[in-house]
This record gives sequence, C-alpha cells and structure tokens, in this order.
Amino acid sequence: MAIITNIEDLRLLAQRRVPRMFFEYVDSGSWTESTYRANSSDFQSICLRQRVAAELNATRSTATTLAGQAATMPVALAPAGLTGMQHADGEILAARAAAHAGVPFTLSTMSICSIEDVAAHGGAPFWFQLYLMKDRDFVERLIARALAAACPVLVLTLDLPVFGQRHNDVRNGLSVPPRRSLRTLAHLLARPRWCARMLGTRRRGFGNIIGHARSVPDMDSLSAWTTEQFQSTHSWRDVEWVRQRWPGKLIVKGIMDAEDALHACDSGADAVIVSNHGGRQLDGALSSIAALPAIVDAVGTRTEVHLDGGVRSGQDVLRALALGARGVHIGRPYLYGLGALGEHGVRACLDIIRKELELTMALCGMNDVHEAGRHVLAKPLA
Ligand code: FNR
Repeated sequence: MAIITNIEDLRLLAQRRVPRMFFEYVDSGSWTESTYRANSSDFQSICLRQRVAAELNATRSTATTLAGQAATMPVALAPAGLTGMQHADGEILAARAAAHAGVPFTLSTMSICSIEDVAAHGGAPFWFQLYLMKDRDFVERLIARALAAACPVLVLTLDLPVFGQRHNDVRNGLSVPPRRSLRTLAHLLARPRWCARMLGTRRRGFGNIIGHARSVPDMDSLSAWTTEQFQSTHSWRDVEWVRQRWPGKLIVKGIMDAEDALHACDSGADAVIVSNHGGRQLDGALSSIAALPAIVDAVGTRTEVHLDGGVRSGQDVLRALALGARGVHIGRPYLYGLGALGEHGVRACLDIIRKELELTMALCGMNDVHEAGRHVLAKPLA
C-alpha cells in the first residue's frame, strides 16, 4: 500500500496507474510550459510570516462561502475535461469526494459523465462549467440541463477561444474526442486494471455532448463538430447573453487582466477566477498568483476574486488568500488523486490540503481563515 503524504505522492501513483496519454494530458502545459511551471513555482517565492504565542484556539476555522455557497474550506474542484478518463466514472467519484469534504465540485462541459449522471449519482449540488460554443441552441440546452440538475453556480470559461497546443497530446495522439489508433491502444493495454474498470462502465464518451449535439452520427463527425464549436469569437455581449439566461450565481473564469476583470463585473459576474487554464493556453502569460494582486486591487469589493493554477498545498491556499483571493480552485491535484485511488484519492487530496491549511494557519498565528491578508506575508530577501 503506497504511503500518501502530499500531492506529489498522488501524482506519482497516478503516473503508474493511468494510461500514459491520459496522465500526460493532465500533467502538462502548453508549448514551452513556462506559464505552467511558473504557476506553481511563483507560489514558492511568497514567504509566510511565522508568528508565536499568538493565543491560538484549540482548533482552526476554515469554513467560508464561495460565490454565496457554504464551503468547509476555501477550496473548490476546478472543471476538467475528460476527468472520466483518469478513472472510470471519474466525475461522479470526484463529485462524491467533494460532497464528503463539503467543498464545491465543478463539472466541465467536456466531461465524460453527463450533467444528469452527476446529478443522479454525485451526492450533492455541483457547479457547472460552460464553454461558449458556436451553436447557441446547444448552449441554451446545456444551461437548461444545468438548471434542471439544480446547479447553483455556472462557471463561464472564456480563455479557450482557440486550443493552446500541448506537445505531449500531439505526440500521444490524444485528440478531442479521443480517436482509436495503435499508439493509443498500446497506452491503454499497458494499464489493464484501468481498462477493466473502463470496460465496466458505459460512460466513455463526452456525456454532455453525445446525443445532444446536432448531426453527430459518429466519432469523426463529433470530433469535427466539437473542434468547430470552439472556434468562436466571444465578446462581453456574449457574457451578458449568458447572464440573462442564468438566474443563479455566475462566475467568469480565465481572467488574467484587471481591465477584463472590470468588464466581467460590468457584465454581471458574481465572481471571477484569476486563471490561465492551468498553463494550458497562453504560454508566456503571468502565473495566476502573480496576476492576482492587480486584479484584486482593481475590482475592490465589486465582486469576489478566486484563483486557480499551481495550488499544490495548504500553504499555497493561504498565500492566495493573503493576496486577496476569496478562495482557490484546484485542478491537477484532485485529478492525480482520482487517477491514483479513485474517490478515495480525491478525498485524500482534499484531506491533505485541509490539514496543511489548518497547520499553516496555526503557525502563522491565525484562528480563522478570514483573518488572512497581506499582513500574513513576510518580505523575502531582495
Ligand atoms: C483543465 N481546465 C479546464 N477548465 C475549464 O474551464 N474547462 C475544462 O474543461 C478544463 N479542462 C481541463 C483539463 C485538464 C486535464 C486540466 C489540468 C485543466 C483548467 C482547470 O479548470 C483549472 O483552470 C486548472 O487546472 C488550474 O490549474 P491546476 O490546479 O491544475 O494547476
């Protein structure tokens, strides 16, 4: 039995258990991966201020709200396409683990399990992430399905008007949707337990799209349809279009610029997520944590500011809160957990981050997560 002490342990275990093309789909960024790497390495240069004799209570309080929804800690599971390829029924298992931990789970438009699957088997209300695809009838149907599933929050992702290239995906022959080839077959056969689990579920295609997109009779047409749907030219009017159709909370994801954050506020966003898609889109962009302070300063109290990208520990959660984030969303950490140990692995991921957050708060002299602010940070050596 592997000993799991941190997120890296989950990553290494996932690498051994998930077919290479799906593991590398998660474990990579776009082009030179400079933004992907900076997302996590920039956290390391932010120093926390150690405090002593701080009159700590017996326990720390991490409870908060994110976009008005109660959460036991300021952490949510970010949307990820193909989550169900890390582990059979992956979206359902991740949703269950999130419900168990009392944090939000966000289902991607490009999930394997459908909105209805997760509503029926996931165990709690979940958030839905929407891509603004070209076919607006289809987008309206997705919104209606998310409403019917009682999703309280819609996360609208804006940073994918084109696909950033991930070299590993090209080398591994991973397309959207995945195509069958000798190379991909070899990757799958190298992981027989993964294959056996996958054969035991009927959820193996894009659950939200199959059967709902117009005229998609086979995989090739579906591939062409999906690719074409993403080549869109969004404007802030499109965000207003979604706002008019979504009565719940609306979060705009993929904001890296203070001006864009203000546009999102004007378009009716209840929160923005400072995000560069986990370093999978614009290589050369700032890391999310480097972009955060200017965006927090620009929006002030107009809307909540969340962050994702590179959060790998409870210490990182506190660093983001100290720089003004209301909460963070994690992607790869829980995907590694899922690939490593299914639902148990996602629970382990959230337990690790919660424990690290609580201990770090204590060492910084904090009792309540809402005490976080720039005073929690220490100046590093110049
Ligand atoms: C993503 N991300 C993403 N975002 C989104 O809005 N819709 C999606 O379908 C996906 N798909 C996706 C797949 C995979 C494999 C990854 C790793 C990421 C981006 C995701 O929501 C989030 O922004 C990043 O994952 C955050 O960075 P970390 O935590 O992975 O470093």
